[in-house]
Amino acid sequence: MVRTFIIDTDTASDDAVAILMALQYPDVEVAGITVVHGNVPLHQCLANALFTLEVAGVDVPVWAGADRPLLRPASTAQAFHGVDGLGDAGYGPPSRTPEAGHGADALIDLVRANPGCTLVTLGPLTNVALAISRAPDIVDCIGRCVVMGGAANTVGNVTPAAEFNIWVDPDAAAIVFRSGLSVEMVGWELCRGDAGLSQDEYEALRALGTPAAKFAIGCQAAVIRAIADMEGVPSITLPDPVAMAVALEPEICIRSSRHLVEVETTSELTRGMTVVDALDVASRRDPGPAWELARAVTVCREVDIPRWKSLLRTCLA
Ligand code: BDR
Ligand code: CA
Repeated sequence: MVRTFIIDTDTASDDAVAILMALQYPDVEVAGITVVHGNVPLHQCLANALFTLEVAGVDVPVWAGADRPLLRPASTAQAFHGVDGLGDAGYGPPSRTPEAGHGADALIDLVRANPGCTLVTLGPLTNVALAISRAPDIVDCIGRCVVMGGAANTVGNVTPAAEFNIWVDPDAAAIVFRSGLSVEMVGWELCRGDAGLSQDEYEALRALGTPAAKFAIGCQAAVIRAIADMEGVPSITLPDPVAMAVALEPEICIRSSRHLVEVETTSELTRGMTVVDALDVASRRDPGPAWELARAVTVCREVDIPRWKSLLRTCLA
């Protein structure tokens, strides 16, 4: 049976790989891609999403969404992904054009037209929060919502407490996590360490020689440099593709648990922290909204690393 995916993305290097995976996967049809600010400014994320479709040789409608967080100025990750988000390797510009209309409205229409769909979010949650606020009925139409974001009570990548996608627009993330949506959180902690690609691993993928494989590794040039600067050894982390792997093959998440997950929106120190009520203490103490939301979020705790890497290889081959 064909599954319908909708992807919301701040398209930069790892988003592009995640999009390629969904486009190449056999029983999945991508009904639409909505783009949000994040890794780079919105217009560049949009160009990158359109260019990725060109590499894949697939036609999928793409919409531009929010160009900034709900309540805060935009922040980018160009020091990590490159000024153009694709490693400044000289890709594009794309020849394709986006659809008319706002990405949040497109999300509403896409979800209503595809009840039971899987929504995969790869960027800040601004578009999703706007869509849910405008049309709360879509919550019940979404079968799965796989979120690349957060760090389950562990270290962050943009501050010690927070992961980039949630930190950039914590107010949007708080709306989404409290919406009743069936969120599956794939946090940053699952994507680093052995889940990243060593130089041997990424060179083996590049050597597959397909347009998708060459682009998937070629657009990581800035990421490879940034990680080599930080850690002394070149490697690639691919958070969005890890989340996409879980969306495509749920068994890749080999351990999970359901909890109340709250997002910090007021403190500067811990802005965007995803506070997982691992022992259900808050939900047991609070008979109000926290209790209703208890175990609302499925927190992925462990991924099958060999299987995620094998899926990546299959999709790029
Ligand atoms: C997330 O932030 C972005 O830089 C990546 O594209 C990914 O979505 C990882 O923290
Ligand atoms: Ca992303």
